[in-house]
Amino acid sequence: MTHDWAAQAPRFTAKAHPNIALVKYWGKRDEKLILPVAGSMSMTLDTVATTTTVIKGGSADAFYLGGELVAGKPAAQVSGFLDLVRRLAGSDEHATVISHNDAPTAAGLASSASGFAALATAAAAAYGLELNTRELSILARQGSGSASRSVIDKFAVWHAGTDSETSYAEELSAPDMRMIICEINAGPKLVSSRLGMQLTRDTSPFWNSWASSTEEILQEMLTACAADDFTKVGEIAETHAYRMHALIQSSRPVVRYLAPASYAAFDRIAELRRQGVEAYGTADAGPNVVAIARPEDAAAVANALQEFGKITIAAPGPGAHLITQPLPLPDAFEG
Ligand code: PMV
Repeated sequence: MTHDWAAQAPRFTAKAHPNIALVKYWGKRDEKLILPVAGSMSMTLDTVATTTTVIKGGSADAFYLGGELVAGKPAAQVSGFLDLVRRLAGSDEHATVISHNDAPTAAGLASSASGFAALATAAAAAYGLELNTRELSILARQGSGSASRSVIDKFAVWHAGTDSETSYAEELSAPDMRMIICEINAGPKLVSSRLGMQLTRDTSPFWNSWASSTEEILQEMLTACAADDFTKVGEIAETHAYRMHALIQSSRPVVRYLAPASYAAFDRIAELRRQGVEAYGTADAGPNVVAIARPEDAAAVANALQEFGKITIAAPGPGAHLITQPLPLPDAFEG
């Protein structure tokens, strides 16, 4: 079947990469606007991109991921995000969103970050919004908090801010490093980060100190970055990752994202340090472990971690950006 409107309409396409936080975001102070309880800091990866094409038109919004029409909650989230864009643009036109993820979705490799950063960038262009990087970060944040950081090149600090306009990510310089991603289990998570955050906030006795101590450690991280101090950056990142997982594990009912193999990988990283290879570990809301190392040590760290799972080495990568090559209409396209 041909769908003339879609075949002829302009297509706007963006590419974005996941980011891995060195100071973690865990918890919202405003669920609707996605304002965080504290600031955070991350590296945007140069691997595993999300590519998203937005085509305005049609009789309803539609979302295709990996060639398949998506229904239910993810489709509603995309449509809800398009509503934000439409409100900014003063438009009531529907859109078709075609997306492709290089990494497994919702596996703790921050696919929501690359997903909403790519969607924000492509949709803003499709609806004729001329947003600067800060405005794009604010928009992407409202899809998924960590997406605010995937708009930014290389290293990003997301300011908690006092309201929506002041809660955005911006670039900062940090010591050059590589992230050695060890995919321990790429299956979908049992508890989404959104639900995990709510449960932690509602039930952990350590919640209040988490928010205040994260702001403090973020300030230390910014100082270490400004001093180009890799050792300090790594030490803070590992400490903060352990703290986040300790916090999460203090919720009721308990939520635990790390698997036995994740702890074994953390132990191996500590052993590498004792042997003189300076590496530090972190992990998001899933069992995968990410080691941080200087570029010249990345291969040795990858080698030491390969028994725990598939390894990808990532360097600091570009923030979300428009590209000229659109994704094709999927075979399943219904118009
Ligand atoms: O933006 P979300 O809802 O995918 O939350 C991301 C939370 C962590 O990945 C665990 C931490 C972070 O700062 O990216």
